[in-house]
Amino acid sequence: MTLPKGLAGVPADTTSISDIDGERGELRYRGYSIADLVSHCSFLDVACLVLDGELPTPDSRREFERSLAQPRALPPAAADVLSRLPRETHPMTALQVVLPLLDDASAKSAPRLENRAAQREGLLAIAAKLPTTVAALARLRAGRTPLAPDPSLPIHADFLRMLRGEAPHPAEVATLDATQILQMEHGFNASTFTGRTVASTLCPLSMALSACVGALYGPLHGGADEAAYRMALSIGDPAKAPAWVDEQLAAKEKIMGLGHREYKVVDPRAVILKPMALELARLKGQEKVVETLIAVDEHAEKRFAEQGKRIRANVEFYKGAVFAALGIPPEFFTTLFAMARVFGWGAHMLELWDDHKLYRPAAVYTGAGPRTV
Ligand code: ACO
Repeated sequence: MTLPKGLAGVPADTTSISDIDGERGELRYRGYSIADLVSHCSFLDVACLVLDGELPTPDSRREFERSLAQPRALPPAAADVLSRLPRETHPMTALQVVLPLLDDASAKSAPRLENRAAQREGLLAIAAKLPTTVAALARLRAGRTPLAPDPSLPIHADFLRMLRGEAPHPAEVATLDATQILQMEHGFNASTFTGRTVASTLCPLSMALSACVGALYGPLHGGADEAAYRMALSIGDPAKAPAWVDEQLAAKEKIMGLGHREYKVVDPRAVILKPMALELARLKGQEKVVETLIAVDEHAEKRFAEQGKRIRANVEFYKGAVFAALGIPPEFFTTLFAMARVFGWGAHMLELWDDHKLYRPAAVYTGAGPRTV
């Protein structure tokens, strides 16, 4: 019996949250293309769409905004754990450790299946705390005291303020909003599938979200953002990119940020991110990194085409350059991915609980036949 490795192409469940057309290079959240959403909607509108299924009305937007503003402060136990972690702990490890402490006891004990509204509220309370957690981690790592959240500010303006200690420029907030919209949701990717599996056991949302963070950390998934950016830094110059790509491919090494299981033509998120990264990097005088990334992408595409492969930049490839231009340290890139994807993860968990069944696939046994000791 031949099985598709890595579950490639195997339908695991139904979903109405997002749809990927890999042959056409399209991604839609609840039917809307991401290009349409990035051009016309705010981050909050898209988060509401992903979670609740429709773009908000003015009233529901206010309610959503409140749910993401009030609960931003960290519970004392979470703040205490963060302050005690060794300073060299990778931020994704810290996030996975602290996530189960971000909800309160009542959210943990609320029934998973009978009270959707309480679970949704619990999810928003956790999503509201992730930017506070990430900013606190960054400051602790730099030997500084974490700043308290300001619920009067939009979520990403507050995040950049807590991270950097000063109010960001509105254009920086707009860029972060757009980038976070692009990485909010993506079908049954590894972290979301992990989260659905864990949530299917009816464990608390916060513990399923913590499992998602573990899956996202891997360099074949979310961790590729940090790896691609560090790769560009180490190549150092666009002129050196072609030789570097040739060496990498000759050694059969993967180039981080290129390739995708679903997209066979182009990753539409990378198409939007590339000009954003270039524009922002030019403004900040950091264009060499983006030009190096472009040179890697273009040369690798040629080499892959010679081998009959269609491998292009994915969402991870240019994203790190955007984050670096916003002053975010590379080891924090993937935590920002989690800050956005939490809405997708949560939407999937609520969707699964609406029509619940434990995930428990079959294994094809290939080991030794029955024997005795
Ligand atoms: N660099 C070099 N070769 C590659 C790359 C790459 N980035 N991606 C795929 N290939 C090659 C493989 O070596 C393989 O070649 P072979 O058939 O000659 O052995 C072939 O293309 C197929 O690759 P697989 O890894 O088997 O294909 P899969 O569908 O599993 O790939 C994946 C998807 C894991 C994303 C892969 O492209 C990869 O490892 N990319 C680098 C990591 C990365 O950027 N991950 C982020 C993905 S986006 C996200 O998770 C948000």
